[in-house]
Amino acid sequence: MRMEGMSKPMALSHDIFPKVQPHIYTWINKYGKNFLYWYGVRAELVISELELAEEVLKNSEQAFPKRTPSIYGRKLLGNGLVFIEGEKWAKHRKLANYAFHGESLKNMTPAIIASVETMMKKWKGQEGKEIEVFHEFRWLTSEVISRTAFGSNYLEGEKIFDMLKKLSIILGRNVFKTKIPFINKIWKTADLLESEKLEEGIHDCVLEIVKKRENKFVSGEVDGFGNDFLGLLVNAFHHLNDKNMLSMEDLVDECKTFYFAGQETVNSYLLGLSCL
Ligand code: HEM
Repeated sequence: MRMEGMSKPMALSHDIFPKVQPHIYTWINKYGKNFLYWYGVRAELVISELELAEEVLKNSEQAFPKRTPSIYGRKLLGNGLVFIEGEKWAKHRKLANYAFHGESLKNMTPAIIASVETMMKKWKGQEGKEIEVFHEFRWLTSEVISRTAFGSNYLEGEKIFDMLKKLSIILGRNVFKTKIPFINKIWKTADLLESEKLEEGIHDCVLEIVKKRENKFVSGEVDGFGNDFLGLLVNAFHHLNDKNMLSMEDLVDECKTFYFAGQETVNSYLLGLSCL
């Protein structure tokens, strides 16, 4: 059903549910608002009754843990905020909250305006021509997250964005493939091999950006690691107090999470707005 839905373009309409989740749409109509289905060897309960959904999202009894990511989900976001829980989540979340609180967001405005202006200048020369808006917004959102959270620019993060995009495409085409448990230990698919290479590549590129930030401090060019998200992460990595310390793996995974979550989401959102 999904493959059929994706194979054809749809008319401009807000009625996207039957298009993007045709299976869920069909099953709700057939089996009712709440039903059970099998995702490979795991039973999944679909809830679309509002009161029940609210109960799950509030999670007041902490009865609903986060889902275990697929092998590709883990490669994409590692042990970043999206997948971690408990004390580790609280520690990482505190850092993110600090980097993205109201005052910090205000300070990001000039960088965001400058990025939008750069894009608009490019558009000025294109009058009468078609513009590939998705591509443009991809550049814009990558530039903004690079500048505001990582103190760099799109070009510096370009390789990371490209590899994250490739990984998310692999993840997308494997979402509904059921796997034989433990088969990966003896036989790896082409997608798995490629995703391992991409994961390694992203890891190395993020490390390079971290090292650059550290070197700036060590050479005396700046007097700290900085107050942006990357600066706070690097600072936590060097923190002597064990409770606040962040491992290099955690640092890399949070960078991946924010490069991805900060770019893909807003890119799609802007595109949605531009269609209104
Ligand atoms: C229109 C834009 C966005 C939408 C629609 C969106 C949507 C969401 C949703 C639904 C979740 C919850 C996922 C879950 O718990 O399973 C989430 C979590 C998250 N988002 Fe976004 N997001 C957007 C923009 C951003 C941006 C710009 C960033 C980073 C700069 C970001 C970083 C994160 C992080 C780190 C989490 C995990 C938070 C946690 O568990 O503590 N998102 N987002």
